[in-house]
Amino acid sequence: MDICDVKRVNSVCFDEEVEKILSSLEKTRCEFWNLDRPSANFLNMLIKINNSKNVLEIGTSNGYSGIWILEALKETKGKFTTIEFWEKRQRVARKNFEIYKKDVFMEPKIGSAIVVLQDLENEIRSSKREKYDFIFIDANKKEYVDYFEYADKILKIGGIILADNILTHYEKTLPYINLLFENKNYQSQILDIGAGMMISRKLK
Ligand SMILES: C[S@@+](CC[C@H](N)C(=O)[O-])C[C@H]1O[C@@H](n2cnc3c(N)ncnc32)[C@H](O)[C@@H]1O
Repeated sequence: MDICDVKRVNSVCFDEEVEKILSSLEKTRCEFWNLDRPSANFLNMLIKINNSKNVLEIGTSNGYSGIWILEALKETKGKFTTIEFWEKRQRVARKNFEIYKKDVFMEPKIGSAIVVLQDLENEIRSSKREKYDFIFIDANKKEYVDYFEYADKILKIGGIILADNILTHYEKTLPYINLLFENKNYQSQILDIGAGMMISRKLK
């Protein structure tokens, strides 16, 4: 193996059962638009490095990235909300998440991301829910700017937004990229990892 191979991964050691689920999901990765393993490993590490305790994912699919998030939240003792509008996929994800059910509080939400984000914002505004400290954006690329409008309202200062497909869907995500680079309340960087990720930290 080339020492410079960016696809090399040294990830956490998952239980045999979890590793089996991950390996099986990796076989259908293209069909379900899942992260690749290096991006998922990065996402997992970032949650731990930031000691994030309240994570929101926009775009669950069959739960591949969710498993990596849950593994991180098991360590940080956090909780997980994830949004998917495709019921069939959400059902598969719920099954895949079951193994972490006793360790992490999770709320898989079915619905259009914008509608669910509106609900979450309302609940946060009426103190029924706390703000998030990590938001992972991985749904409709054309809606990233709209997701950000809500994400900004429900993210704590010091919180992180990680957005996927920044380089593979450059034309669609360009308005989001520009918005974040021009926003002085955020520090942002694009990373050439997987499909290209943009990491943004809320400063104020
Ligand atoms: C790229 S996939 C997510 C992959 C997942 N994060 C992973 O790595 O395992 C995007 C998912 O977002 C869902 N999606 C797209 N637009 C959506 C919307 N407006 N509201 C809710 N879900 C949406 C799609 O059905 C799809 O399953």
